[in-house]
Amino acid sequence: MKRLLTIAFALIVLFPNCTQKVTEPVSAHEQSRKLSRGVNIIGYDDALWNDYTTGRFKEDYFKKIFEAGFSNVRINLHPFSHMDSSYTINPKWLETLDWAVENAVAADLMVILDMHEYNAMADDPEAKKEMFFSVWRQLAPRYKDQPDNVLFELLNEPNQKLSVELWNTYLAELIQIVRETNPNRTLIIGPGNWNGIESLSSLELPAEDKNIIVTVHFYHPMAFTHQGAPWAKDYKDTTGVTWNGSDEEKAFIDAKLQVAADWSVANDRPIFLGEFGAYDKGDMESRALYTSYVARTAERMNFSWAYWQFDSDFIVYDIDNEKWVEPILRALIDN
Ligand code: BGC
Repeated sequence: MKRLLTIAFALIVLFPNCTQKVTEPVSAHEQSRKLSRGVNIIGYDDALWNDYTTGRFKEDYFKKIFEAGFSNVRINLHPFSHMDSSYTINPKWLETLDWAVENAVAADLMVILDMHEYNAMADDPEAKKEMFFSVWRQLAPRYKDQPDNVLFELLNEPNQKLSVELWNTYLAELIQIVRETNPNRTLIIGPGNWNGIESLSSLELPAEDKNIIVTVHFYHPMAFTHQGAPWAKDYKDTTGVTWNGSDEEKAFIDAKLQVAADWSVANDRPIFLGEFGAYDKGDMESRALYTSYVARTAERMNFSWAYWQFDSDFIVYDIDNEKWVEPILRALIDN
């Protein structure tokens, strides 16, 4: 008996990760509670995806993010330009992802692998379908032994030609592919029309698969959150829109998010608000007020969330000066 115990102890010391493997189904509601508060990272850190030692995002940021009060990172993945003609993902790109997953897990963060090739998928979903599925055919087995704090988000913001109907058919197929290697992995899936709350009612999920968190994004009112954003054609020339936290402004946000809260209860699926925030061109006081109000309202409705985003734009961390953007950080964590 003593010998058996010694062997068991030695195995745990030698292979600590064995104890964390996903062996049993976890509750999606519990997973969503653990996700709690998070931030989107490294989607647009191009150098990092060729070689993680040369990126803007440094290894110690994982710990910094945790210590600042966040519990999850949503890693935005753009693998298409790193795949060869047979759709094999470049090993260097995968090395970066391994590095990010390892360091995030080591920092006690929940990690979401968010497939972010939504623009390519919206332009020509049929031509890109095999490439899209190939990504998951490679990522799912690669990360199948990761602990259950690694979650897979199948696709960010399906939109345009990737219609609500087509998304539902792709989803049904893709869930089966991922489940072959990851029967107990928590999946994150959002509705068509840019993960819009209004489209939740059109989302078709397998009723028997309870290990799914449903995600929505929220940038209303767009004239405030996307003022001056060059990619937002209706708002790129808009300036000076404030958000003052009036009863009317708050009621507008409450009403929109309440639709997701009601859907969540009716369908017994937890909600993850995977993106929200206000672009850097708005005034800071308004942005902080707005960010805080959306985060607190989401929490009141039991949603977990991830702020858009750490670096690049909408920033909450100023890499050039190695410091947090305090008003945004405080709005997210303290208020
Ligand atoms: C896109 C970003 C954009 C953000 C807000 C994200 O899903 O990937 O490019 O800045 O939404 O519009």
